[in-house]
Amino acid sequence: MEEVSSIKTLPVKTGSVRAGEIFSSRLGVLTATLGSAVGLGNIWRFPYLTGSNGGAAFLIIYLICTVLVGIQVMVGEQMLGRAGKGNAIAALRALAPGKAWWLVGAAGVISAFLIMGFYSEVAGWVFAYIFKSLSGSILSTDPQVTTQAFTSLIANPTQSLVWQWIVLAVTGGILLFGVTKGIERTTKTLMPVLFLLLILVGIRSLTLPGAAQGLTYLFKPDFSVITADTFLEALGLSFFKLSVGMGCMMTYGSYFRSDQNIPTTATRVALADLMVSLMAGIAIFPAVFAFGFKPESGPSLLFITIPAVFASMPLGNVFMVAFFVLTAIASIGAMLSLLEVIVTFFNQQLGLNRKLSVVLTAAALAVFGSAAALSNSTLANVKILGLTFFDLYDYMSSNVLMPLGGLLISVFIGWIWGYPNIRKALSNEGMLKNERVIGMFFGLIKFVTPALIVIVLLNKLNIL
Ligand code: TRP
Repeated sequence: MEEVSSIKTLPVKTGSVRAGEIFSSRLGVLTATLGSAVGLGNIWRFPYLTGSNGGAAFLIIYLICTVLVGIQVMVGEQMLGRAGKGNAIAALRALAPGKAWWLVGAAGVISAFLIMGFYSEVAGWVFAYIFKSLSGSILSTDPQVTTQAFTSLIANPTQSLVWQWIVLAVTGGILLFGVTKGIERTTKTLMPVLFLLLILVGIRSLTLPGAAQGLTYLFKPDFSVITADTFLEALGLSFFKLSVGMGCMMTYGSYFRSDQNIPTTATRVALADLMVSLMAGIAIFPAVFAFGFKPESGPSLLFITIPAVFASMPLGNVFMVAFFVLTAIASIGAMLSLLEVIVTFFNQQLGLNRKLSVVLTAAALAVFGSAAALSNSTLANVKILGLTFFDLYDYMSSNVLMPLGGLLISVFIGWIWGYPNIRKALSNEGMLKNERVIGMFFGLIKFVTPALIVIVLLNKLNIL
């Protein structure tokens, strides 16, 4: 495999000649990657799924999926991106010249469109709620009032579109500054803020009378509710949470320095992401139970229950602003990585300059995403496969393209790229003495990871 020898020419220190930008420090790599992983998934999907699927019992299953699949695909993607020096399409073309593997990267670009299509809309609601909580207009202890406020927001086509476009303008604006000054600097600044706000809201929630019930909901192990579906939920969540299966991590991997320890980085990111998810659960459920509300799922938890919960506590509007600001920060880091996949497509595949690529990406998403934004108003009755555009985008990406992408990536690594290449790439050309870690990675990515994904994929498509 002569293309592998090109790894030798990778610069060891930053500042050497290299095609594009790279993250300037290890901390920057960590915050950017963690920024991608931490997102809306942590704030509403994880806590709710954990609470409703058996608490600590679900956590154990989620951890198993994360260790056996999520982290491995993350390591694999980052490794391929760095070795192939480019986005998913470019990297796979470089590592398997003349083969069709680059199509996995192409599918990733489509996934990025699908995920951003609905994600940017939910982020738009979050942005809107920062302002609504500042003005106090959604502060009511009556869930009927907060339901009304949310419904009128999502059923209003103009507001839905405008908030989505604001989100795209903000994230696109950050990406205009590039990888180092845009992604790296933003996540380095914002991730600590997110942690602080989360701790602040968490302490408030935990110190409310009756908070214990929320902790019980979140953590009490209940193995009786575990079914095959629980495993599916946990694996899907682990893909979504770790931003794997669609080339995001390959793109970020191409910005890694050649002396970055990839397995360690991926493990740290997964751990920190889990911590944020648990902290989000601790910030939400004790408060929800303390005021006698029911834990809802998805958007209703975030936009209907939470405002009512905060309205019930002293200084609630301050904490509510803090909560929506932290949620907005989480969504921005995640969206930067999703947009970057499309930006690098225009930039590296079509040869447009970076600024133009960013503008085109945001514009294309404004059009593509508007179908999801209007799913609760103008296009509410337009359904494909029985789903609105919003749900269709979610379904196609989470249930079809991402697991398929993860499967093909692990098959490529384990069966095509092979052990010698993996060893070279993950040991940083022999600089790291991590033979055992690499051996474990190889065993998992070759057999365990793909087998688990196949089971889940067939199950999700109702074939198994
Ligand atoms: N991980 C993010 C979250 O939890 C979402 C996200 C960012 C994502 N990039 C991704 C999901 C790539 C799937 C694929 O909200």
